[in-house]
Amino acid sequence: MCGIVGYVGTNPVLDILLDGLEQLEYRGYDSSGIAVKCDEEIKVYKAVGKLKNLRDELSSHAYEISKSTMGIGHIRWATHGAPTTVNAHPHTCNCGSLVVVHNGIIENYKELKAKLEKDGCIFRSQTDTETVAHLVAQKYAQTKDLTKAVELATKEIEGAYALEIMHNDEPEKLVITKRNAPLIIGIGHDGYYAASDIPAFIKHTNKAIYLSDNQIATLTKDSVKIQDVDGNEVKPKIEQLPWEPVALSKMGYKHYMLKEIHEQPDVIRNILVGKLHTSDSPVELNEVKLTKETLKTLNRIQVIACGTSLHAAMIGKYLIEDLCGIPVDVEASSEYIYRKTVTNAHTLVIGVSQSGETADTLTAIKQSKAKGSHILIITNRPDSAMAREADSLLSVNAGIEVSVAATKSYIAQLTSFYLLALYMAEIKGSASDETIKNLKSEMLLLPQKIEQILANKDYIQTCARKYSGTRDFIYIARGVNYPTALEGALKLKEISYINATGYPAGELKHGPIAMLDETMPVLSVLMKGSVYEKLLSNSEEAKARNARMIALTNSTDKKLDDLFDYIIRVPEVDEMLSPIIAIVPLQLIAYYIAEFLGKDVDQPRNLAKSVTVE
Ligand code: M6R
Repeated sequence: MCGIVGYVGTNPVLDILLDGLEQLEYRGYDSSGIAVKCDEEIKVYKAVGKLKNLRDELSSHAYEISKSTMGIGHIRWATHGAPTTVNAHPHTCNCGSLVVVHNGIIENYKELKAKLEKDGCIFRSQTDTETVAHLVAQKYAQTKDLTKAVELATKEIEGAYALEIMHNDEPEKLVITKRNAPLIIGIGHDGYYAASDIPAFIKHTNKAIYLSDNQIATLTKDSVKIQDVDGNEVKPKIEQLPWEPVALSKMGYKHYMLKEIHEQPDVIRNILVGKLHTSDSPVELNEVKLTKETLKTLNRIQVIACGTSLHAAMIGKYLIEDLCGIPVDVEASSEYIYRKTVTNAHTLVIGVSQSGETADTLTAIKQSKAKGSHILIITNRPDSAMAREADSLLSVNAGIEVSVAATKSYIAQLTSFYLLALYMAEIKGSASDETIKNLKSEMLLLPQKIEQILANKDYIQTCARKYSGTRDFIYIARGVNYPTALEGALKLKEISYINATGYPAGELKHGPIAMLDETMPVLSVLMKGSVYEKLLSNSEEAKARNARMIALTNSTDKKLDDLFDYIIRVPEVDEMLSPIIAIVPLQLIAYYIAEFLGKDVDQPRNLAKSVTVE
């Protein structure tokens, strides 16, 4: 989604802004722009499409900007108004003295716009953001103080925002503020950085201040002042970021997605270190702050998430119910927040999010926190807004995930759910010692098994290419792998734009079977265990309708040879752990199809890495 970066200091700003925006590119965007303070005026440059277009636009102006040491930049993911140059940020007030970049949505922009238009403001774009430029400029005309103007304006703004604002009459001040959207200040030796995400400035500094909601920071080249919305000074808390100052790199892989798929064995290893030593030792999850007594008596869990994280949550439900006997409800955050949910102090609420910034999940978490529930967050970003709401924080430490399509963060979320379910089962005594011991010893072997699958990727690539001409794709599974089918289909849909759907195989005959003919590929996630025979029968039903059959299986059963056109074999694994094994070939199938079709694998159209609007 949108990304913002700003700098005020002693170094030339142009490269800082462009490099910073480049580091945020992975979030997904459709236009970009910068504003820089040059001698007597602020200059604004914008372009539609990739950052390269902005660089091209800037190439003929490089000299006039080269000395500037203060500026703001933005990549935009269109919400209000099409991705055009006019709608790209920064936006300006009537006279162009004030510039603003914005992440989020100004919910009352229509009302504000109507008032501002009556006052003579002329709107050029269709964006909600332009209201902020006019509103702050109006307040500035009254106060002649940019910080005060921002303070007054934010009292009238409703919605979510991270804002960076400059005014020509305050040539050394960058004023920033936020509400329900991330904004971080980087403290460099040469000045101050402000960005919506750390990669934008980590190359320059790993010292940072996380701005809280409704705080306003005034940055100059050698000072930072923070105040609350009423003007009271706030003492900044400087934090050391746990990040390496290295640029994002594909490490020789063609795409980040392929690199991230290959990182999965190590992601699991990293999570298990310190938490699961051997199959005989108990799972250690000091991060769970609920007392053992509370865990023993817990009678309800709600899990909220979106997209891929929702699929991890669905598998989490299966594990917790099976091993701990606690009822678990899983719900898409966007549904959870708009109904009367029965949540209270006796409910454990688990929020799952790679980014920790997804607006729907964040709102859902805040709602349940207000109702007194204990909030456990499973996230890849311990520095995120969701992590800050957590009573218990399970940080999955998968490392930054650049590809918009989530892969390694999913495996990391699943691994965390396994640990959590085992941890609770051990405390409750709700599963047999033998079951727990078997699962633990199999978990320790998962990284090697995934490495075996990756070693077989050429075969998976051949199979994927065979199906790259299809317009539709069906994935079927049962039991714990039903969410695997959903996730496999989501991956394919996201990056290849093929209409892929996951079904619980038993549902096929209740409708979807009407879709089947000799053009339709049906991929069956056929893992050995309680539903194997049932799924085999469902696959027979699909075959009888001439569908093009593919099996993803850990069975060596000879009868599969007649039933399926392609068989992708994966290592043997306990049924309960099979989602971690089964998802890897499905990620590869999606990747190879999209790559073969020449799609923009890492930044698929219309998608954003972190969806910070509801
Ligand atoms: O950061 P989150 O895990 O909260 O994001 C949720 C979804 O937006 C995300 O999983 C999305 O579905 C991905 N593009 C999946 O590949």
